[in-house]
Amino acid sequence: MQAKLIDGKALAAQVKAEAAAETAALKKQGITPCLAVILVGEDPASQVYVRGKARDCGECGIESRVIRLPESTTQQELLALVGQLAADRAVNGILVQLPLPGHIDEKAVIDAIPPEKDVDGFSPVNVGRMQVGEPCYLPCTPAGCVRMIESTGVDIDGKHAVVIGRSNIVGKPAAILLLEKNATVTICHSHTKNLQEICRSADILVAAVGRQGFVTGDMVKPGAVVIDVGINRGPDGKLHGDVDFDAAVDKAAYITPVPGGVGPMTRAMLMKNTVQAAARQNGLA
Ligand code: GUN
Repeated sequence: MQAKLIDGKALAAQVKAEAAAETAALKKQGITPCLAVILVGEDPASQVYVRGKARDCGECGIESRVIRLPESTTQQELLALVGQLAADRAVNGILVQLPLPGHIDEKAVIDAIPPEKDVDGFSPVNVGRMQVGEPCYLPCTPAGCVRMIESTGVDIDGKHAVVIGRSNIVGKPAAILLLEKNATVTICHSHTKNLQEICRSADILVAAVGRQGFVTGDMVKPGAVVIDVGINRGPDGKLHGDVDFDAAVDKAAYITPVPGGVGPMTRAMLMKNTVQAAARQNGLA
């Protein structure tokens, strides 16, 4: 069987159209959603991501403020800027692009973003609210993964979902969101025994490892939904996922491509969170 592609670009366009419509409605009430993005240093991948986020804001009618700071920026200077944006009523969402240079404590910076402006969903308050199922900002990548799975029409309820990777940004929250949808969830990581066997029993397989081709064809259950979160620059200079796509596409029922899969969806979910932040901060949601 040849898997159907889950088209992240097309789905992201749909999500952004929703965000644009919501933005237009807010503007009629005199509210323009605004996202501030801080980029410290010259990391080439981060520069591409930040440009993409600004472009998405433009498409949705959201105001974007991109603040580029030199690599030499001190933690104190960065915290002062976050504090300034936190106090600025015109700014609804604050995103500090990760990774930060080694001399800056990421945790201290994330903690400085007020939870109500934390549109990345990284702050401990939002993580805690997600865990107990309270209204919060969902982290964009896992929320995008769930939306992609739902777009297939496959019911998550009761399925075995296997998440490979346990990062705070993707693996852990993806597992929580799938659990919230009544999946039976297994989280695998570098210490997991029988990884192949566990993956082979997955109706839904989410790969968030960061290693090209980590998921081989024989780890995919026939008919599975495969979500590839990996973005790895290969020796060929091209972008590759964590899944051996050519092998998995013959086994899975649905699979996301890389590029054009999870990446565009992550950015689209950020737009939704920003619009939601603007509405909430103005007492409208
Ligand atoms: N770096 C890579 N992905 C992300 C993301 O989703 N948010 C932030 N802030 N930085 C990132």
